[in-house]
Order: sequence, then structure tokens, then C-alpha cells
Amino acid sequence: MFNEFQLICCRNVFIYFNRDLQDQVLKLFYESLSPWGFLALGIKESLRFTEMRNAFESVHMNHKIYRRKR
Ligand SMILES: C[S@@+](CC[C@H](N)C(=O)[O-])C[C@H]1O[C@@H](n2cnc3c(N)ncnc32)[C@H](O)[C@@H]1O
Repeated sequence: MFNEFQLICCRNVFIYFNRDLQDQVLKLFYESLSPWGFLALGIKESLRFTEMRNAFESVHMNHKIYRRKR
């Protein structure tokens, strides 16, 4: 955890990360978001195949906006 945020915007960066790094970064983002906090990714990016996919819910499918579940 590096702070507590209501919104983390990380767009068009995950595409450069391998699966392990994506999972590590998503875990850090999850721990750094307040409950129900928002995560925005790039429109070509998704949580679908990541370990943390069940820790977030989709708020806007097309714009890749997610919310931490609790
Ligand atoms: C396509 S740009 C995205 C910039 C901006 N977020 C956007 O959506 O326009 C990709 C950015 O990811 C950064 N990046 C790529 N690999 C990285 C890594 N392993 N660690 C940190 N940043 C990285 C690059 O330096 C670059 O700034």
C-alpha cells in the first residue's frame, strides 16, 4: 500500500507489463484504493485474465473503469 486513493488512473501502461507484473501492480493498486475506489485502465486493457479480476467490478465496460469491490 502506498497511500489510500479514491481513483487510480493507469491507462495504456499495462500493455507493456507481463502477466506477473500486471498481477503485482494490480494487487498494489487494490491495496492502495479505498473501499469502492475506482481504477481506470486503457480501452485496450482489461482485468479479465488477471489474478485480481474478482476483486474489482466493472463500472463502465467500454471505458474500462472498474471499482474495488469492498
Ligand atoms: C503509451 S504510454 C501511456 C501514457 C498515458 N498513460 C496515456 O494513456 O496516454 C506508456 C507509458 O508506460 C510507461 N511504461 C512502460 N513500461 C513501463 C514499466 N515497466 N514501468 C513503468 N512505466 C512503464 C512508458 O514510459 C510510457 O510513459
